[in-house]
Amino acid sequence: MEFTPINQDILKQIISITGEERTFYKQEDIERYSHDETEDLIFHPEVVALPESAEEVSALVELCNEHQIPITPRGAGTGLSGGALPIHGGLVICMERMNKLIEIDERNLQATLEPGVITENLIDAVAEKGLLYPVDPASKGSCFIGGNVAHGSGGPQVVKYGTIREYILNLEVVLPSGEIIWTGANTLKFSSGYNLTQLMIGSEGTLGIVTKVVVKLIPKPKENILMLASFKSNEAACEAVSRIFMAGQTPSSLEFMERKGVEWVIKYDQIAFTLVDGIEAFLLIEVNGDSMDELFLQCEQINIVLEENDCQDVLLADTSAQKEALWNMRRTMAVSVKSNSVYKEEDTVVPRAELPKLIKGIKEIGARYGFESVCYGHAGDGNLHVNIIKENMSDEDWNHKLDDGIKEIFELTVNLGGTLSGEHGIGYVQKDYMPLKFNATHIALMHGIKNVFDPKGIMNPGKMFNSPA
Ligand code: LAC
Ligand code: ZN
Repeated sequence: MEFTPINQDILKQIISITGEERTFYKQEDIERYSHDETEDLIFHPEVVALPESAEEVSALVELCNEHQIPITPRGAGTGLSGGALPIHGGLVICMERMNKLIEIDERNLQATLEPGVITENLIDAVAEKGLLYPVDPASKGSCFIGGNVAHGSGGPQVVKYGTIREYILNLEVVLPSGEIIWTGANTLKFSSGYNLTQLMIGSEGTLGIVTKVVVKLIPKPKENILMLASFKSNEAACEAVSRIFMAGQTPSSLEFMERKGVEWVIKYDQIAFTLVDGIEAFLLIEVNGDSMDELFLQCEQINIVLEENDCQDVLLADTSAQKEALWNMRRTMAVSVKSNSVYKEEDTVVPRAELPKLIKGIKEIGARYGFESVCYGHAGDGNLHVNIIKENMSDEDWNHKLDDGIKEIFELTVNLGGTLSGEHGIGYVQKDYMPLKFNATHIALMHGIKNVFDPKGIMNPGKMFNSPA
């Protein structure tokens, strides 16, 4: 794909749209838009623009479309698949100034907001009205709702409530032509042609730029109970997961953490937590609802299953401070892995009951290729974050042998009925693996969709597919 560099004349036109204050082109200003949270990858954009309205986004996109300039849409830069990296330079359109929570519609249990709203700000604002927006990625304190839409995000609570796909009713989108559309309707049902809302969710900024989001809200449960269950092996912990659901229980979170992940959080965060010898894995289990009596009953049922599955100990978080400490342990796992070692992260997901086979297989593959891994994730969803760490691996093996090992992990995932990513997206770093999951017919269909939206291929090029669409 041939793209046009941004010359002085085009830069002037960009500045005429977003102004000197909101247009960056100097090295020191564009630096923070040159990376996201994906490993240590860096790509510099030529120009960064911070629009404040859909009309400004539209004018920027129209200009880029006319001159064949690559656009990389960007949220908060918390992504883990390189989706926001401007790998062809060009223009980064960052949504950080479009951060208004426009309306909370309590009559319809909906909210309308701009894509640059921090997810936790939405969660907190609706909670004040007794409402729940349940999509809670670990990065909720810093990620944007627009990035969550782009990646089809999840988080611990989606095991009970469903991913962001269940909560987006309608999207205002600037298409690669610069035209603005609403993808659906602010309704709970939609049986009116192809569902472009669902198509936009998870499209990773390759089909357009979301400029407004309408989300569904639900009543917020008043009570919860949090437990930490410990096991002697990863497989025992993972086996217990599907058994809990088979026993008719649906926790509001069911997270898995490997011992090494907990060790590293303790080191990184200096938290007071005693790791008992022989314990290799943990399940963090939360139940929620309006009646404590019912929740205690639910916990009893879950405890029976845990005992049947060789659980060694169950710690009940008594206070909200204890709950917060346990959640903090889980949420800081990604950053503590990052601070402890060079790593690569995969976001495998399989049907829930296949989780024991997945984790066993990952460790076997690691033993064969000489790499260690720290695994944790949303076990109730069958979603395991696999952090491959460089510890004990030579540069030569890390750079040349590891790829085949990662390929085997994905082959195993697919063979178990799973897919390449549950919530982090394909982006830049997983695109080469797409043919492991999708055959040529399937990929051709995806290319066809891309071409209808973006015939010039300017919108987030080089993501999701390993060749131009
Ligand atoms: C988490 C992020 C990495 O679950 O998805 O911690
Ligand atoms: Zn996650």
